[in-house]
Amino acid sequence: MADINNSRGFTSNIGAILAAAGGAVGLGNIWRFPYMLGQNGGGAFLLIYIFFVFLIGIPLMMTEFIIGRRSQSNAVGAYRKLAPNQKGWLILGILSILGGLLIYAFYSVVAGWTLNYLMLACGGKLAGKDTQAITQTFTNFTQGTWWPLASQFLFLILTGAVVTMGVQKGIEKISKILMPALFILLIAMCVRSLTLSGASQGLTFLLKPDFSKIDSHCMLAALGQSFFSLSLGMGCMVTYGSYIQKSDKLFKTSAWIAACDTFVALLAGAVIFPAVFAFGMNPASGPELVYIVLPNVFNSMPAGNLFAIIFFLLLSIAALTSTISLLEILVAFGVEELHWKRKTSSIISTLAVFIIGSICTLSFGPLKEFHLLDRTIFELFDFLTASYLMPIGALLMTIFLGWFYPKVEVKDELSNGGKLKVRAFNLYYLILRYIAPLALLIILISGIVG
Ligand code: PFF
Repeated sequence: MADINNSRGFTSNIGAILAAAGGAVGLGNIWRFPYMLGQNGGGAFLLIYIFFVFLIGIPLMMTEFIIGRRSQSNAVGAYRKLAPNQKGWLILGILSILGGLLIYAFYSVVAGWTLNYLMLACGGKLAGKDTQAITQTFTNFTQGTWWPLASQFLFLILTGAVVTMGVQKGIEKISKILMPALFILLIAMCVRSLTLSGASQGLTFLLKPDFSKIDSHCMLAALGQSFFSLSLGMGCMVTYGSYIQKSDKLFKTSAWIAACDTFVALLAGAVIFPAVFAFGMNPASGPELVYIVLPNVFNSMPAGNLFAIIFFLLLSIAALTSTISLLEILVAFGVEELHWKRKTSSIISTLAVFIIGSICTLSFGPLKEFHLLDRTIFELFDFLTASYLMPIGALLMTIFLGWFYPKVEVKDELSNGGKLKVRAFNLYYLILRYIAPLALLIILISGIVG
């Protein structure tokens, strides 16, 4: 059971914000957001994305924090404690653990690539190559067997080591170092990118909405991206919520995390698109945008290899703080529900993820031809989790807290036992009960029908 007095939780509000923002800010912001935006019409996607972050994202993060902090439990234990007589809710907890497992499995593939690209950049192996050679490097690497598996495994071990050290000494401490480092590196990259000649076209693409691009596919993609980026609907914020001190303000904490996350996604866009347009690359090139397009861009810049190193370093940092949060969902479950030691739970969870994750890795190479629902296993995991599992998880969470859990208890938790005035409580409750579930339902259904 998570401790009631929080001596095992985060030690400060800034620690909680940085750790949870670390979980939120990740490959989703720097790798996934730019290519989703590139494929879904640029500025229009950005506009809908920001709308979802504020309308549904922040209230949902508060919802997860309330569930976690109220119960002082992991993603499954939370429902066992808050709804002891309604065992059905445990399914929501199990769905969260399953989602965490599936996301971590495919996420660690890309995290492994990042580590490999960092090593390539440090060894100067990307420098001086033409477009064809860079594409070849990416295909040779991702379609291989042992190197991508080894990179993935290394990343899993690194994450496991931090999580084994515990919430305060591992997760909080490393987030306090890595998150500021990430901001500094990203701002340095942004300055470089925005001062390239021809950068303005990329900024226009990022910021100028073309409303004709908005359809149900674009809406579902933006909603999925906002969930993925804010780590919602998956028990991650429930778990971290159980570590937040009882005196911290949940609205303020959620708003800061969402603001950091959106700011980083925008910065990543402002790094990538000006550079992509300045060097005549294709903004809609998909998942390989940062692995094929950017190395080409770096090679055409002065001191390009240095920027390649900085970029892949920051991508690795962002990925690490997120894999930590993904593993913590599983480890907290193992420790609190199955009574394993923290180290045992880390090892077992890491091995389970590696077994499933290696299938995702191999789906770029030896298992490339194996398709389910017209997708490779990697694509299937990505699509199912971001477009369905996370929104469904979130929908069930809003129904649980908005319709089944007593309103007075929700207000009590949000107001820290009546100590805070939560002026916007009625607005929050309205979103929780009606707006968020309805929006989630409409978009889920239109996505399925469309
Ligand atoms: N939010 C992370 C990112 O944007 O990279 C990914 C993620 C982490 C999703 C943790 C879900 C989760 F539970």
